[in-house]
Amino acid sequence: MKVFITGGTTGIGWSLAKIYLEEGHQVAICGRDLSKVESGANEKYKNLTCYKVDVTNRDEVLAAIDDFSKGELDLLVASAGRSVGSKTRTPNFEAARDVININVLGVLNSFEGALKNMLPNKRGHIAAIASVAGMVGLPGASSYSASKAAVLKLCESFSMDLHSENIKVSCIAPGFIDTPLTQKNDHSMPWLMSSEKAARKIKKALDRKLPLFVFPWQMKTVMFILERLPRWMYRFFMQLPFANYSK
Ligand SMILES: NC(=O)c1ccc[n+]([C@@H]2O[C@H](COP(=O)([O-])OP(=O)(O)OC[C@H]3O[C@@H](n4cnc5c(N)ncnc54)[C@H](OP(=O)(O)O)[C@@H]3O)[C@@H](O)[C@H]2O)c1
Repeated sequence: MKVFITGGTTGIGWSLAKIYLEEGHQVAICGRDLSKVESGANEKYKNLTCYKVDVTNRDEVLAAIDDFSKGELDLLVASAGRSVGSKTRTPNFEAARDVININVLGVLNSFEGALKNMLPNKRGHIAAIASVAGMVGLPGASSYSASKAAVLKLCESFSMDLHSENIKVSCIAPGFIDTPLTQKNDHSMPWLMSSEKAARKIKKALDRKLPLFVFPWQMKTVMFILERLPRWMYRFFMQLPFANYSK
């Protein structure tokens, strides 16, 4: 299988890449800084290709996916993303623009590159790592919640639109995973899971081509309830003890 993982230089993307590499698949990863890739990875994994790509740059993304795929791509996982980190009451608009650009436009660019190589063959699988943060508007994480809500809805629409083209679409919505992204968080992270365990769960969901996979189950249960609360009740509860603002 040929698998392209954006943002595969660290965290969830890299843990997932290693599973596919160890199964013997051809894997490409990309990021802006390839020095972050685990040292010795290129020697250990002969089936690994690394591309220096900024996912907000459409031309760079399309060129890398074309170069790797050469018209044949089985799976694309859009994992590249960022968060703001600290939860502030007043938005940091510069960081918010970057979050939306990377997390939403980055996914669109990656899907465009993948579909260019999948649609002519009428087969393939595209997936994105959204987040449970996209299921509600989280206090102190407006741009991150909004970006992940966009990814959840993009994937939901695409899964129907591309059904007739035999393209499968999966959206993965994890809770807290221990990666460089969350290691800078200064708030509590219930049910924090290792990146390796998360990747194993994601791989199983991708194998089953699930349209939506939310995990861990404890976070899924909480989000299921929060999503369905009357919005006044949700705002009331979230503004009190759980807001977790940094400042
Ligand atoms: N960790 C969690 O708790 C959690 C929970 C839910 C969802 N997620 C989502 O899971 C995905 C992976 O996050 P992670 O936790 O694994 O974080 P991470 O370890 O910080 O990895 C982020 C990856 O994205 C890449 N990246 C960031 N901006 C990029 C850009 N403009 N162009 C290309 N690559 C870029 C980074 O590489 P470079 O820095 O080299 O560019 C890195 O490889 C993200 O979409 C995140 O929102 C994470």
